[in-house]
Amino acid sequence: MCGIVGYVGSNKNSVHVLIDGLKKLEYRGYDSAGIAYLENNKLNIIKSVGELKKLESKVNFGVSSNIGLGHTRWATHGIADEVNSHPHKVGKFTIVHNGIVENYNELRSKLKSEGYGFKSETDTEVVAALLDSIYKTNNDVLKSIRKMTDILDGSYALGIMCEDDNDTLYVAKNKSPLIIGVGEGDNYIASDVPAILDKTKKYIALEDGCYAKITSSEINLYKDGIKKDFNVEEFKYDASDISKKGYEHFMLKEMHEQPEVFRRTTNPYLESGIDSLIAKMPDFTKYGKIRIVACGSATHAGLVGKQMIEKFANAEVQVDTASEFRYCKQFLKEDELVIVVSQSGETADTLEALNIAKKNGNDTLGIINEKGSTIAREAKMVLYTEAGKEIAVATTKAYSAQVALLSLIALNLSYKKDLVDKKEIKEILEDANKLPGYIESLLNKEEDYKKIAEDIKDYNDIFFIGRGIDYALAMEGSLKLKEISYTHSEAYAAGELKHGTISLIDEGTPVVAIVTDDNIAPKTISNIKEVKSRGANVIYITNKKDENEDGFYDKKIVVPKVNYLLQPLLTVIPLQMVAYELAKLKGCSIDKPKNLAKSVTVE
Ligand code: M6R
Repeated sequence: MCGIVGYVGSNKNSVHVLIDGLKKLEYRGYDSAGIAYLENNKLNIIKSVGELKKLESKVNFGVSSNIGLGHTRWATHGIADEVNSHPHKVGKFTIVHNGIVENYNELRSKLKSEGYGFKSETDTEVVAALLDSIYKTNNDVLKSIRKMTDILDGSYALGIMCEDDNDTLYVAKNKSPLIIGVGEGDNYIASDVPAILDKTKKYIALEDGCYAKITSSEINLYKDGIKKDFNVEEFKYDASDISKKGYEHFMLKEMHEQPEVFRRTTNPYLESGIDSLIAKMPDFTKYGKIRIVACGSATHAGLVGKQMIEKFANAEVQVDTASEFRYCKQFLKEDELVIVVSQSGETADTLEALNIAKKNGNDTLGIINEKGSTIAREAKMVLYTEAGKEIAVATTKAYSAQVALLSLIALNLSYKKDLVDKKEIKEILEDANKLPGYIESLLNKEEDYKKIAEDIKDYNDIFFIGRGIDYALAMEGSLKLKEISYTHSEAYAAGELKHGTISLIDEGTPVVAIVTDDNIAPKTISNIKEVKSRGANVIYITNKKDENEDGFYDKKIVVPKVNYLLQPLLTVIPLQMVAYELAKLKGCSIDKPKNLAKSVTVE
């Protein structure tokens, strides 16, 4: 979503820092951008719609400036045009903002009656006017910010400059991520680590309700009018982690990182076999039921986890989409564990689901990739996916790491319930050792994926079918294809097709059919035959090498057969790769698909 970067200091030219930082935030998704900087105490604001290079072409990099704010906007209030894009200046205040202020309409009316006029449709311009109006009564920026935070409802990360204080940046945060980067002789603000990672490794993570005054040499943090102590932390990754390392796209690089991500995520739990798995995970046996709540691909990982935990550990699991969960009756019982799954740890709906569970008194567990993120801090327990920084909007390695941790939860619980025998544990551990090699071999079947992409490129509707765990994978395959190749696709439970959807199958309609679970394979295969006999072009993804084949598919991708708990980590690879190759063939913006944002910090 929107991105913020800010700079104050004497070492660098703020314009360079701002444009450079905004480039690093491009992956988050945006549709307009802008910067504000002071040169000789004169404020300059430059904005543009569309790609950042348009903004760059308008900027004079030769200026001398020690302070400024930059922003990439993903439109929420009003269309993507220059008027609505940030920074917004009202009276003495210039502001950039991430998040959504919910009471902006009533504030706008009130401020209008005070004589403020509004050029844009944004909530941000209202915030700037509110601050200016409060400041007129007390001439104290910090006191005004404090009062403003009492009045605003909703989420905000704010970068603020005041005309009367030309050496200082101010920030305020509530429910939208914001960090302060600590330099030497200069300081930074950013909504996300990559914006400043090549400038400093030291940062302060702000809590909700905090606001701060930042000069080149000093940082003062406040909450509720009281000065607060803070910890300066250090980023774990460095700038090379956010480079493509020779790959054509971040998505391709990240798919190729999956073997290593699997090792990093699972090794700590498996290093001493089942003993370390039991020692390092919470005791899941005390819960009557597990609820998994997440969004997008993280929900799909949850659905794979449900199949594994239910089948393997005989424990009930319910999966909910966070945006629905927060507004429906949850029927949460005391003994239910709520697991929230999130790569970013900042997804607004998932965070709200976590808050609901906490308020209800339930134990919560986060399966999170971004360390220090809001959900990681707020959940009672956290298991980290060790995927490293994921830049491509379409998640691949983080999704796999989520599935890997859920499979370990299933194994942990089934062992504790005495449902898995030694022989099977040995088999799982052996398969886990082989898995990185298998993933690599599947990634290398590039030519097969290209041929499939070529085959399906002219079709506007593609179906993904499967049963059980394969249906959960079909959902992820379909989402990957939609988001990066802009091709409509639907995931269907194979047995459900003939209740309506099969009428859409015509001569040549691509159907990606997934069959990896022996128990239900014959059923799914008969569904595949139903679509084949109606003309479908069947792309068959299976771990079955040589079943009695009688022409029910057109192309076949064989994935190595491993234990049920690990199988999805292989099956998903061809799905990711076909989506990637199709998007490449269609010339789509693979790493930054249109209209999408990496981290969805508004509901
Ligand atoms: O950061 P999160 O895991 O909470 O994000 C959830 C979804 O927004 C995310 O998985 C989204 O669906 C991906 N772009 C899919 O590739």
